Amino acid sequence: MVRLSINGKTFNVDVDDNTPLLWAIREQVGLTGTKYGCGVAQCGACTVHIDGAPVRSCSFPASAAAGKKITTIEGLAEGGKLTKVQEAWIRHDVPQCGYCQSGMIMAVAALLKEKPKPSDADINAAITNICRCGTFQQVREAIHMAAKAKA
Ligand code: FES
Ligand code: FES
Repeated sequence: MVRLSINGKTFNVDVDDNTPLLWAIREQVGLTGTKYGCGVAQCGACTVHIDGAPVRSCSFPASAAAGKKITTIEGLAEGGKLTKVQEAWIRHDVPQCGYCQSGMIMAVAALLKEKPKPSDADINAAITNICRCGTFQQVREAIHMAAKAKA
């Protein structure tokens, strides 16, 4: 049994030591906004925050997240108010099929916390999430919009 703190609530989950955090979040806790894509830390669809840092939860043991603060896409907006990133996503109409987008948004939110005004090079380095619909240009524009909105 592992005790996880997710989006401000505590959950006791019954998982093996090496069960990926992604499956604890999706199958034990029932938060399905975090997606499974590759399973090998390549695509970023499963990105959540652990203590504020982006983590690819398909490749991170749930047991290693015990005692840490986990945030998923469902917990990103605080008090029902969308973040600047989410607002920029809506304004820019970023998602196509949407499958990769929760992981993309989590990665971007972490980037903007660390670098409020990222350059294109910063974005290229930090946002390595894969989008099969090819929304990369809209993602970049929405990141710059969110960065301006924070000023
Ligand atoms: S599902 Fe985790 S990085 Fe692809
Ligand atoms: S919006 Fe379809 S995979 Fe990214």
